[in-house]
Amino acid sequence: MLVGAGPGAADLLTVRALRAIEGAEALLCDALVGGDILDLAPRRCLRIRTGKRSGGASMRQDEINALMLKLARRGLKVVRLKGGDPSVFGRSAEEKDYLEARGVPVEIVPGVTAASAAAAQFGFPLTHRGEARRVTFATARVQDGAIVDGGWDAGADPETTLALYMARDAAGAVAARLIAEGRCPRTPAIAVENAGRHDARILHADLATLGACVEAASPTGPVLLVIGSVAAMARAETVAQPRLNRQGAL
Ligand SMILES: C[S@@+](CC[C@H](N)C(=O)[O-])C[C@H]1O[C@@H](n2cnc3c(N)ncnc32)[C@H](O)[C@@H]1O
Repeated sequence: MLVGAGPGAADLLTVRALRAIEGAEALLCDALVGGDILDLAPRRCLRIRTGKRSGGASMRQDEINALMLKLARRGLKVVRLKGGDPSVFGRSAEEKDYLEARGVPVEIVPGVTAASAAAAQFGFPLTHRGEARRVTFATARVQDGAIVDGGWDAGADPETTLALYMARDAAGAVAARLIAEGRCPRTPAIAVENAGRHDARILHADLATLGACVEAASPTGPVLLVIGSVAAMARAETVAQPRLNRQGAL
């Protein structure tokens, strides 16, 4: 099973994800999945971290695929736990195709993606009637400080909300490219670090200042960028959340 663990807080797991974790015999999880979520697995369950944060070594994709296959062929209930939604920058198709081609059926359990978690936590929408008719989930490839992939002209549309994943270090380059494509430099922009968790932080900027703002804040957690008029509706503080303990569990 490829299971979305949501943005980090255990109470943002879906019921289906929780059941999958509780029934797991082997859990392979990526770097963004917190220890409190792993603790929901049975004590006997094999726990394998496939990703490390802060520059530590991560397993290669082919190693992860081979390990999942090996464990599944041993007859174990394998749960591949991924941050957010496995279908959003989660390599879900690569892993599903690999396993299915070898006769292992795969079920996908969706999760709350970082953009949805950030929007809920800071009280802004991703779409807004008459203002933001489209949402684009995107990431950027940067080389020598400039964006090297195409398609950014679509991001110049003032009615598009851009939710940018894995773009913390690319914030300045993305903003420069969008401005070059015609997006207004005053377009509201935010960066949300650790969305959905108790230690979430929001930075307010506009397109012209986004890069410098993110750089000055030196975030160490995962960061989502949101660019578009809806970002002006984001609050400075977390909207009241259910009572969570420090790990984000109820
Ligand atoms: C490999 S992508 C995985 C996205 C994930 N599948 C999802 O749906 O949220 C990792 C990126 O997602 C974003 N991200 C994931 N969790 C986040 C969080 N709690 N807060 C902010 N951004 C997050 C960051 O941009 C991070 O670099």
